[in-house]
Amino acid sequence: MERVLQKLVHSSRMLHFLPKRRCLSNLSNKNFFITTPIFYVNASPHLGHLYTSLVADAAQRFQHLVSKSPSFLSTGTDEHGSKVQKAAGKIDTQLYCDQISNQYVEMLEMYGVDFSKFVRTTSTEHKRAVQAFWKKLEGKNLIYTGDYSGWYCEADEAFVPETRTEKLSDGARISSESGRPVEWTSEQNFLFKISAVKDDLLHWLKDKHVIQPRKFHDLVQLWVGEGFHDVSITRPSHRVPWGIPVPDHPGHSIYVWMDALINYLTVAGFPDTLQKWPVDVHVIGKDILRFHAILWPSLLIAAGLEPPKQIHCHSHWKVDSEKMSKSRGNVIDPRGEIRLKFTAEGLRYFLLREGTNHSDANFSETKVFNILNAELAGKLGNLLNRCTGKSLNPKQVWPVYVSGLVGDQYLVEALRELPDKTKQHYEDFNFYKAVDEVILVLQEANKFFEDQKPWTLQRDSAEMHSILSLTLETLRVVGIVLQPVIPKLTGQLLEKLDVPLENRYWADLKTFVWDKTSAEKTLQSQKLTLFPRLGDGK
Ligand code: ME8
Ligand code: MG
Repeated sequence: MERVLQKLVHSSRMLHFLPKRRCLSNLSNKNFFITTPIFYVNASPHLGHLYTSLVADAAQRFQHLVSKSPSFLSTGTDEHGSKVQKAAGKIDTQLYCDQISNQYVEMLEMYGVDFSKFVRTTSTEHKRAVQAFWKKLEGKNLIYTGDYSGWYCEADEAFVPETRTEKLSDGARISSESGRPVEWTSEQNFLFKISAVKDDLLHWLKDKHVIQPRKFHDLVQLWVGEGFHDVSITRPSHRVPWGIPVPDHPGHSIYVWMDALINYLTVAGFPDTLQKWPVDVHVIGKDILRFHAILWPSLLIAAGLEPPKQIHCHSHWKVDSEKMSKSRGNVIDPRGEIRLKFTAEGLRYFLLREGTNHSDANFSETKVFNILNAELAGKLGNLLNRCTGKSLNPKQVWPVYVSGLVGDQYLVEALRELPDKTKQHYEDFNFYKAVDEVILVLQEANKFFEDQKPWTLQRDSAEMHSILSLTLETLRVVGIVLQPVIPKLTGQLLEKLDVPLENRYWADLKTFVWDKTSAEKTLQSQKLTLFPRLGDGK
């Protein structure tokens, strides 16, 4: 195992230069452009970073299934600011960024997140994009200098209005939203005239679909109602030297949030011809909603570019009901022990099955253990074992189905309805609801098998063939539907059923196997244990 890990670490180091496929991946011919936030390199990746990446990956895989045309997923790392410089400590800051950035690439690769582009804010292409963007706003007279004073939260890299701070009993002040310390800061900065685009921003927000789910749209409306203040978009470079210099004003660094948000444009080819714009969906966590729903569209509108089509915001993961934090020592690194315990596909399944958009989810190992055993090893794995077991299916075939021979109307109907039901949930980013529907069908199929007792029937009877055939068809349908959630396991399942790659799209759910052929088919002969039961020793 150590060997394998070493190999992964090694290969991820190579990935600093990014695989060719990714560099060459072209955005202009993709019909769906989705992004994750770019992650701060002030610490190693954790479960929340993995989750947000899985949400975006599942969504782009679903779009691919439906459209048959590949999607484009961009992700990356946010590497400037004093927080990062502090974290680097004595290590050369760029070297430190390289190391942590590689850890993110490593995590994404381990979990099968199929990204098309990994952008880094310390790259030359990004710096060029940020400076060109600056010039664009400057040219439109939307940037001015001013004395700026306010409560600055270094941990959040943001000024916080006094009304959103709290004074503690010891005299110190914190941001009410994040609970992190703020300090009174006075400096000469450049400001962005956000007030100039206010009406356009409000117009964009009129469409209730731009921020999903609705709850977060309402929250943004509330914030917007509190009024607008022009935003400081630089820091003196003596205070924040690790940043992109303001063009022609090297005494100032561009504010990390402006720098970071522009990553989405870098990916699209800015400042050269944009390969595709606007972004279809920005996936984000609720902690960065304000920046994405107010500052980002305002910057875009100011630059004469279209704001995103949609921002999809999700809630947070807690661990054993507590917020993940370094001080509590409960931060889970997905590259560590947890993956060896539950497997990458197991964790993908759990996170997408349990994470919800509207409220925080809770990670507990007991829960992971129970769900994976009950559903992947149990409901799905059992059904496969049942219809491919040597005693009932010695020749490993997909026999002929004859309609109406056995009491199967309920299961056939459920299979027919599954694609439409799950499609809606996938489109709404409600992956847990899609999985729920799948589990109901699997339950029905297992019950059907038990009720029919094929083992009591004469081998090779038409009844037995129909039972096996319908069970295999259930697995084909479920296998196709679950691809966005567990791409590798479903790949193995569909391989076992001998379903060709070109027949694994959403359109292939429209027709049952027996509507296309009335002949017996063969299965792959090798035995497949889809998801071995996790031992009680955990
Ligand atoms: O904010 N549960 O980076 P970041 C679920 N660099 N998701 C979580 C989570 C949790 N407990 N914790 C973090 C930054 N996330 C900026 C973003 S984008 C232009 C710049 C996810 O490393 C979630 O998506 O702090 C959250 O928004 C993101 O990680 C923040 O990552
Ligand atoms: Mg954060």
